[in-house]
Amino acid sequence: MSATPLRTLIPNLPSGILYGGDYNPEQWPESVWLEDARLMREAGVNLVSLAIFSWAKLEPVPGRYDFGWLDRVIEILWRHEVSVCLATATASPPAWFSRLHPEGLALGPDGQRFTHGGRQHYCPNSVAYRSASISLITKLAERYGRHPAVALWHINNEIGCHVNACYCPVCTAEFQAWLKRRYGTLGALNEAWGTAFWSQIYGDWSEICLPGRTPTYCNPTQSLDHHRFVSDSMRRIVETEVAAIRAVVPEAKVTTNGVFVMKSANYRDWYGLCDVAALDSYPDPHQGLPENRAAALCHDFYRGFKDGLPFILMEQVSSQVNWRSSNVLKRPGQMRAMSYAAMARGADGIMFFQWRASKAGAEKYHGALLPHVGADSRVFREIRQLGQELRSLSRVAGSRIPARVALLDCWHNRWALELPSKPATFDYLKIFSFFHTALWNNHVAADVVSPDSDLARYDVVIAPTLYQIPVARAEKLRDYVSQGGTLLTTYFSGIVDENEHVHLGGYPALLKDVLGLVVEEWQPIPPDAKNGLRLTGAGDDQPAVPCGFFSEVIHLRGAEPVATFTEDFFAGSPAITRHRFGKGEAFYLATQPEQRFLESWLKELLGDRGIRAPVRAGANIEVSLRRADDEEFLFVINHDRNPAAVDYGVWTGAPDLLSNGAPVPTGENLPGFGVRILSRHIS
Ligand code: GLA
Ligand code: ZN
Repeated sequence: MSATPLRTLIPNLPSGILYGGDYNPEQWPESVWLEDARLMREAGVNLVSLAIFSWAKLEPVPGRYDFGWLDRVIEILWRHEVSVCLATATASPPAWFSRLHPEGLALGPDGQRFTHGGRQHYCPNSVAYRSASISLITKLAERYGRHPAVALWHINNEIGCHVNACYCPVCTAEFQAWLKRRYGTLGALNEAWGTAFWSQIYGDWSEICLPGRTPTYCNPTQSLDHHRFVSDSMRRIVETEVAAIRAVVPEAKVTTNGVFVMKSANYRDWYGLCDVAALDSYPDPHQGLPENRAAALCHDFYRGFKDGLPFILMEQVSSQVNWRSSNVLKRPGQMRAMSYAAMARGADGIMFFQWRASKAGAEKYHGALLPHVGADSRVFREIRQLGQELRSLSRVAGSRIPARVALLDCWHNRWALELPSKPATFDYLKIFSFFHTALWNNHVAADVVSPDSDLARYDVVIAPTLYQIPVARAEKLRDYVSQGGTLLTTYFSGIVDENEHVHLGGYPALLKDVLGLVVEEWQPIPPDAKNGLRLTGAGDDQPAVPCGFFSEVIHLRGAEPVATFTEDFFAGSPAITRHRFGKGEAFYLATQPEQRFLESWLKELLGDRGIRAPVRAGANIEVSLRRADDEEFLFVINHDRNPAAVDYGVWTGAPDLLSNGAPVPTGENLPGFGVRILSRHIS
C-alpha cells in the first residue's frame, strides 16, 4: 500500500492538501471578485468549486450561452494560484426549463409536481433534462476542458439530496425497462418477486408500478428493486455528465459530492465512475462526540468507496448551518479540530460551503469562510490559520490508513434489512455504528469495505447484521475464515438471498458450518425490556451484562459458547459463540450487548491478534494513523472543549508537525479541541 497523492491521479490539482470551498461569484458584482481572490490567497485557498448553481447565468435563454463572466472569474482565480473544480452547473435548471418542459419536473409519490423556486426540481429520468444538461456540459467542456486552472470536474451537486425518487410516467416506464434488463423474462421476475403471494402475478410488463401508495406492505422484492432503480437512475446522471465531458476531453478528471451516507444512493457503485470520492459532512457541533463519531464513520465509508485512496471533504461549514432548528456555532477551535478529523481518516481536501456568505437567498444565514462581517472576524482568522498550517502538511497528502480490521458494508443489505415486515425494525447505520464506535473508542482503525473486496488483507472482518447473503458471498466468507481470518458476525445475518428469499434449513443456512451453530428462532427485545448475558467461566454471582434489541435461540454444532443468556425461556443457551473453522475463527453475537461490554470484549479479541491502540487516551479523543512510504503520521484530536489526558507511550518525543516539530511529552492534558500530528520515520 504505497502513498498515493491525489495529484498523481489528477495532475492539474494543486500539490499537498486541497483547501477551499464552493465559490458563487454570480451572486456578486465583478468588483468583489478581485477581493475574493486576494483573500483566498491570504487564507491559503488553492481550490474552489465553481459554477454549481450557475446554469441560469450561463444559459440565460435556451441555446444562448454567456461564458464571458466565467472566463473572467477563472482568469482572476488562476492569477491568484487558485485552481478550479468546475461544476457541470446542472444542479438547478433555469426557470425557462421548467416553463418549456413541465413534464421534466419531478412528481412526488402523492402525484403532485414540484414547482420552480427551489432547486433540484428535475425528474432524474427526464429526457429534456438530460439533453439540456448534455448541451450545456458540452459547451463548458469545449471552453474550459483544457484550461490549466480546471483541475477537476464537479458533477452536478448532491444528486438526490432533495429529490431522489420520482413517480412520473417516464420513471414508471424506465422502471419497467430496468426490470426487463435485470430479469429478461416476466417469468423470472414473477419468481424473484414471489408474486404467487397475494395474487401479484404479472402477465405484462406494463402492469408493473412504482411502489407508491399501496394499502399495506408493498411486495418486498419490488421495493428492494425500486431502491436499486432509484440509485441507478441517479447514477445514470453521473454517468451521462461524465460521458458528456469526456466526449470532448477524454482525459478529464471527475468527482461528485455525496451527501453523508444517503440511503437512496449506493455510493460505492457511483464512485466507480469518479476519479476521487468527495463527501459533504455537516455534523451538529452541539451534539458533540456522537456526531464526531458519525462523521468518522462517513470518513471511513468514503475512503472505502475508492479502496483506501484519499478522498475530498468537499463541503463542511466553518461556523453554523441554517437548516437545523437551532444552528449552533462551531466553537473557537472546533472547525480546525473537525477538519483534522477528516484528514486523520484519509481526507486530502478540506473544503467548505461556501467561500463568501450570501446576502440574499435561502442560505444567507449559512456560515462561510468569509462571513458577512468580513475578514476581520474570528471565523476568517481561524480559516487563515488552518490554511497556513495545511501548507506545512503537504507530505501527509497521499498517505494511507493501515487498517487491519474491516467492517463489511453492502447497501443492498441495508435496503433489504430496512424494508418493513421484519421481526423487528432494523436501523442499519445504528447497528453499524455500534461496532464502529466500539472501534473508535478503542482507537483502532477499520476500513469499511464491500464483502466482494479482497478480505485476505484484514486480520479481522466484522459483518454487522449481514442479513442479505447471496451464495457467492457466503463462499467468500467461508474461504476467508478457512484461510486463517477472524470473522465476527451477528444476529439476523445470512437470512436471505439477493431477491429477499429466505435460505431455508435453519439460519444462517449458508454459514452454519463456518459458525458451527444453527439459529432456530429469534426473539426481538422491545425497547422497554432487556435480556442479560454472562461470560462462560464467570461465576453466577457476577452481574449479567445487559443486552437488548434482538436475541436468538442457538444450537451449537461445533462452536463453543463464549457467553450465555441469563433471562427468558432460553436462559443458559449461547449468546456469543466462537468456532474454529479451517485455519481461522468465526465469532457470532446473537444479541446486542451494551456498548461498554462490546468495547472491552472487542479490545481483548483484537489484542489477542496484536491489534492495539497506538496511544492511550480517553473516549473524547480521536486517534488515527496515516502511513506514507517512509513516514507515519499519528493524529490525536480532542473533540471536547475540556482538556483530556493522553499518554503517548512509544510516540513520546515524536515531533508534532503542528508545533514546529517540537517533541511531544510522554503524557499531557491535550487542551479542548487541541490537535497533534506526530510523525516518525519508518523503514
Ligand atoms: C449542501 C449543498 C450546498 C449547500 C449546503 C448547505 O451540502 O450542496 O449547496 O446547500 O448543503 O449546508
Ligand atoms: Zn420522473
